[in-house]
Amino acid sequence: MTSYNLKIMEIEKELEDTDHYLDFKTEQVKIEKILKLRDQKNVLILGHNYMKPLIYHLSDKDSRGDSLALSMYAAKSTSPIILFDGVRFMAETAKILNPDKKVLIADLNAGCSLADPFRKQDVLEYKEKFPGAPVVTYINSYAEVKAESDYCCTSANALKVVNHASKDFNSNKVIFLPDSLMGKNLENELGNLESKIELIYPGKYDNKFGRCEVHEKISAEEIRRIRRQFDLKKGSSDSAVLVHLECPPEVLAEADYYGSTSGMAKYLLEHPNLKKVYLGTECEMTSNLQNEFPQIDFVRACQVFCQHMRKITLDKILFSLENEVYEINVEENIRRKAKTSIDRMLSIGR
Ligand code: 13P
Ligand code: SF4
Repeated sequence: MTSYNLKIMEIEKELEDTDHYLDFKTEQVKIEKILKLRDQKNVLILGHNYMKPLIYHLSDKDSRGDSLALSMYAAKSTSPIILFDGVRFMAETAKILNPDKKVLIADLNAGCSLADPFRKQDVLEYKEKFPGAPVVTYINSYAEVKAESDYCCTSANALKVVNHASKDFNSNKVIFLPDSLMGKNLENELGNLESKIELIYPGKYDNKFGRCEVHEKISAEEIRRIRRQFDLKKGSSDSAVLVHLECPPEVLAEADYYGSTSGMAKYLLEHPNLKKVYLGTECEMTSNLQNEFPQIDFVRACQVFCQHMRKITLDKILFSLENEVYEINVEENIRRKAKTSIDRMLSIGR
């Protein structure tokens, strides 16, 4: 049996008893075409946790995940072509790590409200204002920004990277860009740990503000309402509210766990007694985890979708693979500098 046949059988099995089985049957021909091309052209398909289930399942289990996992997979790739099912900054990170490979994304306009407005000039201004302080930049940023930064980080390792940066640069001040809410959340964590590190982030001493347009919409009041409505008691052993680190601080205070998207999946694995769960993050994450954890009843009260992630569709993926179009390119000078900050993060790990 060919590899694409095996993969189709695997997807069918994974989706068999889920809400997405009918969609799979409807789209099966398209999915088969994509997987045939994957095999013919030896393509690695990487898929972010926020992809719609049919797209998410195009990736093998060891090629799906959060931004950190996907960067790690990209760094180890041996395929000549990488198709990135996620947003542009993620595909760009894969290209920075794989300059000799073709990196494709189904829609080059799949942006990110954190990455899009933030430019190299913004980093330079922070460096000038706080000389000697290392710059830790969230992976949700473009190459020109990473190139001016000392470290890259993701929501899975931000605190660890901040600590490394402070130590390596022998500096109590660390600049964290561009997410203001995550900056405040990390500052709170440092405070809880009685750390001497002072975090500087947009909005702390200026009127800049970096935000995820999806997670900023989740409010503490909404979490409290969901807890009441669905009987999700804080600290209970059989239910939990998990939220992303990009949410506002008051939302984190209402949650049982906060972290990266894969951090949430790990939490579920480590708490096998959970019966009811609400996820405060992009809604497709709930669909994907529901398929992976059928024994858990996921509260379907989610209303926040990322318009950028949603630009990636099966039709566009097929077109991109057939024609090998929508390629990511990064100027070599910028790429080399940006790679240093990503390599430092990868060596620190999760
Ligand atoms: P993760 O790294 O947690 O997957 O987050 C990426 C992202 O864009 C969240 O909005
Ligand atoms: Fe960017 Fe938010 Fe979308 Fe993630 S969910 S890609 S941070 S806009």
